[in-house]
Amino acid sequence: MSSTPDAQPEARTVRGTVVTTVPRASFDPADGSARPEELIDVYLRVNGAERHARVPGRRLLSDALRHDLGLTGTHVGCEHGVCGACTVLLDGQPVRACLMFAATAQGHEITTVEGLSTPDGELGPVQQAFVECHGLQCGFCTPGFLTTITAYLDENPDPTPEEAREAIAGNLCRCTGYQNIVKAVCRAAELRRGDDPAPDGTQTPPAPTQEEEQR
Ligand code: FES
Ligand code: FES
Repeated sequence: MSSTPDAQPEARTVRGTVVTTVPRASFDPADGSARPEELIDVYLRVNGAERHARVPGRRLLSDALRHDLGLTGTHVGCEHGVCGACTVLLDGQPVRACLMFAATAQGHEITTVEGLSTPDGELGPVQQAFVECHGLQCGFCTPGFLTTITAYLDENPDPTPEEAREAIAGNLCRCTGYQNIVKAVCRAAELRRGDDPAPDGTQTPPAPTQEEEQR
């Protein structure tokens, strides 16, 4: 096995992206040797702020957000695109951050759960609706639900309970069940529209029927 080359950092530009080669070891399966690992300068706009991370090309967006940018509100569950916990908004559209490389997000606008509060730091409408409707228990799945629902309500600001149920069909929760989350979607829509607050968010909308609950 050969040792890591004693190279100095070297930068070059590939299609507008600065790629830096540094003397950091990565395993080469072809011959079992160590070789320098390329790091990529990734520039993003995250929650309204310009951010930069220097990451390996294989770094997932979810890991870059959590470990390089310190935004640990984005949760990682399955890492296979199944659970939805890692969902963030890419230019306003929900994406699985565990299925994207950070470098792929170069130059894009990312919104994480940390960016869903109001400019003065109050809970945003979807967050507030989850509080009112008891839409979480452990909260592990919640960031993905909040971002997913935020994008959905941008498209459909007045969903029926059935539509709300469809909207969250791609997100998994292992401890709350979906009844209160469906209520929270409809309650968030009310809050966004500025409707009169319901005296009790749990009554918005009416509780689903037994048949709906079994779906
Ligand atoms: S962690 Fe990304 S979908 Fe589960
Ligand atoms: S609130 Fe615990 S997994 Fe959803």
